[in-house]
Amino acid sequence: MCGIVGYVGHRQVSSFLLEGLRRLEYRGYDSAGIAVSRDGDIQIRKKSGRVSEVARLVEQKPIHGTTGIGHTRWATHGVTSDTNSHPHIGGNGQVVLVHNGVIENYTTLKTHLQELGYVFQTTTDTEVIAHLIEFCFNEQIKLGDDPTAPSTCVKAVEVALTQLKGTYGLAILFQDVPDLLITARLGSPLVIGIGDKEHFLASDATPLIGYTDEVVYLADREIAVLTADSLEIIHRDDGRQTPAIHIIDKSPGDIDLGGFEHYMLKEIFEQPQTIENAMRGRLDDDEATAKFGGLNLDAQTLRRIDRIVLTGCGTSWHAGLVGEYVLEEFARIPTEVEYASELRYRNPPMANTTMIFAITQSGETADTLAAIRECKRKGHPTLAICNVVGSTIAREADGGIYLHAGPEIGVASTKAFTSQVMVLIQLALFMARMRHMSFPAGQRIINQLKAMPSMVGKALKCHEQVRDISQKYAEFNNFLYLGRLYNFPTALEGALKLKEISYVHAEGYPAAEMKHGPIALVDERTPSIFVIPQGHIYPKVISNLEEIKARGGPVIAIACEGDDRIADLADDVIFVPSVEEYLQPLVTVIPLQLLSYHIALCRGCNVDRPRNLAKSVTVE
Ligand code: F6R
Repeated sequence: MCGIVGYVGHRQVSSFLLEGLRRLEYRGYDSAGIAVSRDGDIQIRKKSGRVSEVARLVEQKPIHGTTGIGHTRWATHGVTSDTNSHPHIGGNGQVVLVHNGVIENYTTLKTHLQELGYVFQTTTDTEVIAHLIEFCFNEQIKLGDDPTAPSTCVKAVEVALTQLKGTYGLAILFQDVPDLLITARLGSPLVIGIGDKEHFLASDATPLIGYTDEVVYLADREIAVLTADSLEIIHRDDGRQTPAIHIIDKSPGDIDLGGFEHYMLKEIFEQPQTIENAMRGRLDDDEATAKFGGLNLDAQTLRRIDRIVLTGCGTSWHAGLVGEYVLEEFARIPTEVEYASELRYRNPPMANTTMIFAITQSGETADTLAAIRECKRKGHPTLAICNVVGSTIAREADGGIYLHAGPEIGVASTKAFTSQVMVLIQLALFMARMRHMSFPAGQRIINQLKAMPSMVGKALKCHEQVRDISQKYAEFNNFLYLGRLYNFPTALEGALKLKEISYVHAEGYPAAEMKHGPIALVDERTPSIFVIPQGHIYPKVISNLEEIKARGGPVIAIACEGDDRIADLADDVIFVPSVEEYLQPLVTVIPLQLLSYHIALCRGCNVDRPRNLAKSVTVE
């Protein structure tokens, strides 16, 4: 969580910092701030609330300079307040920094620094880093180092970092050494952009779009020393590194609203395209299979795989559950989906024929990263299904599959879910065709997959109807989301969407399991959303629906076009195109995404920036 930006070069830096923070607001939006260095003076503007609040401050009281840092916060330690907002100042103002991460030993360090006379202004863990670096800087000077030399600052940072336990992405300015920006990483992502006589810094590449397409990803335990003309990277154990330059292929159009009112709506409507992108170049008609460039495992190893563990969090976990069903159905490989936060500490037995897949939109989720690191440590091939190119998980996994869904900026994940499902289905086809699946069966699946962008386009036609239905139900405070087999993960996902952006209590449940407890919740003020497209247990789900109706619960059904029976049973029906059962999550999730969007709007909620959430959860 938290977004960091930085710059050193020739531009007036405030506008880049503020624009960059706006682009990173999805990472946290409790408070924001910037610091700009000029002629031995560092000016700070910071405030609780959104980046726009800080922009207003800067407008009232501009700050000039060509070196600066900025931060948008998702609070971990210390309440949201102007004082606790970053940047933080060390000692008597020599060091100013911003931080993404958590310092686990901050209380011990704080006590020690207080004993040395440092006075703390905030209740954050970050402030200890600022004081600690300043303390180390002063110690260097006592040893005779030049206080205006960049090397003194670097040494101070290096020594201070050895004392920190936890995670950090840091951007640091020194008052007496203007035009120098030091950055360091352990566990929190940082990307350096290379321009013409300028360097940019950000938590991910989004703020750099339109400024440069050449980037260097900082690795854990690396410190980068940036000036307008130079970039030096030093690894704590391995010394100086040659920067590996990557090219990002995003344009400003990828990150604007494109005429939509919110990113979430834009991203919902992008799904026909993003599903297409998830298939592009991957379907092999001649071999009736899917192919992936980046798995980095040979056919022999892949054939030996006899168990698959999928791991992720939140929406990515829900996509994993669809993956579990489809991998077992197509490839007949025993598959489990594990919450990454559990897997990282659970130590379940795994043979070296178990393949682990991390599923993650951002590629930065702390629990998912820790889970695959733990599996890697034990010698298992770890792969990633990931959206953000160059993210930590994408780089640390042994291989993987990108979603190619483009930046997902709305905090509630939408297009990533359908892309993840599409990738997992293709993975199941690929693994199945290496085993028992016949050529015609493979061909049939390929043809069904190719029709999906248009099917999802048709599903989106329910938009107006969903908007009307939302008005009817917006005042309700409890919802049940029910589905069976492939529609159970969709029910979970629908409930999660409603909770996170509407702040309405919703429970996703297997439709038949509902009678073992949650049915007690049913009354005329608790609507049940049934995900009930046609399938081999359709009549069973109808019975579950009748059980709700018999207890007076309102029912909204997400059903297949051509279902004549459902209108008599449900209070409201939203129809989606009829597709094979394993493909149903791709169409049935669309009205659920739209429903949560419109209910959130009716309730006056901030759809793209829901309270308490952040897009990348980089803390445990
Ligand atoms: C829900 C949502 C979260 C994420 C979860 C994992 O809309 O966005 O539940 O799915 O935090 O994030 P990634 O996929 O980036 O690992």
